Amino acid sequence: MRILDAEFVQGFIRMANDGWEQGWHERNGGNLTYRIKKEEVESVAENLNRNGEWKAIGTSVPKLAGEYFLVTGSGKYFRNIIVKPEDSLAVIELDDRGESYRICWGLVNGDRPTSELPSHLMNHEVKMIASSRKHRVIYHAHTTNVIALTFVLPLEDKVFTRELWEMATECPVVFPDGVGVVPWIVPGGRDIAVATSELMKKYDVAIWAHHGMFCSGEDFDITFGLMHTVEKSAEILVKTLSMRPDKLQTITPQNLRDLAKDFKVMLPEEFLYDK
Ligand code: 13P
Ligand code: ZN
Repeated sequence: MRILDAEFVQGFIRMANDGWEQGWHERNGGNLTYRIKKEEVESVAENLNRNGEWKAIGTSVPKLAGEYFLVTGSGKYFRNIIVKPEDSLAVIELDDRGESYRICWGLVNGDRPTSELPSHLMNHEVKMIASSRKHRVIYHAHTTNVIALTFVLPLEDKVFTRELWEMATECPVVFPDGVGVVPWIVPGGRDIAVATSELMKKYDVAIWAHHGMFCSGEDFDITFGLMHTVEKSAEILVKTLSMRPDKLQTITPQNLRDLAKDFKVMLPEEFLYDK
């Protein structure tokens, strides 16, 4: 099969373009990676070159040894992915120690995978284990309203989780584990990758202060939906704070407990504190 006809490639491109249309990917902002299923790799095997040069990932992900990923390229513009996917994207294979990768398809003009590859792969490793191999998508976007909130709210998981839950009734159902917050750290390196993957043991969402968001999920719909829900909640909070700094009424901790019971989700009590 022609690789661009494969359903997982089509799904990846559609998700990237949806993110562009939301305004989350100015210039080359953001990146997306997908851990390809074994049968999907086999279905496109004739397109893959296994003679590429091995290059260091910049971190070690031994549990991902031998896995294949579809990834966005570094410096690539999300708005171009739909028109020139073979220039913007790559399929990479990891070596048998999870320390190096090689390009098997794509990036035809000789570029590199996203500079956030260490964060993506460390998150994939953590989430693959935590979800019994179900999670396959890691998505980083420059979501405007979440970024704005990192200038005015304390950079604490419990503050962001509670404020975002309160902004729309279905938020606690969509991200019942809450959200983690990473302080400002230079992007692209191992330090931010370690800090993010540590939070991903507990959450499916990590906010990078003054930068954006990372989301993890089982498929493109769930992961895009998660990013969209958190960012929409942040937009409501930005609007609310802009109208008046104190809320006249809100969803209370007891409302959240009642919601959890009916929707059969577990909301950790640590986020249901009295303000
Ligand atoms: P890349 O173009 O290398 O993916 O970087 C974009 C980005 O958002 C860095 O955090
Ligand atoms: Zn970024």
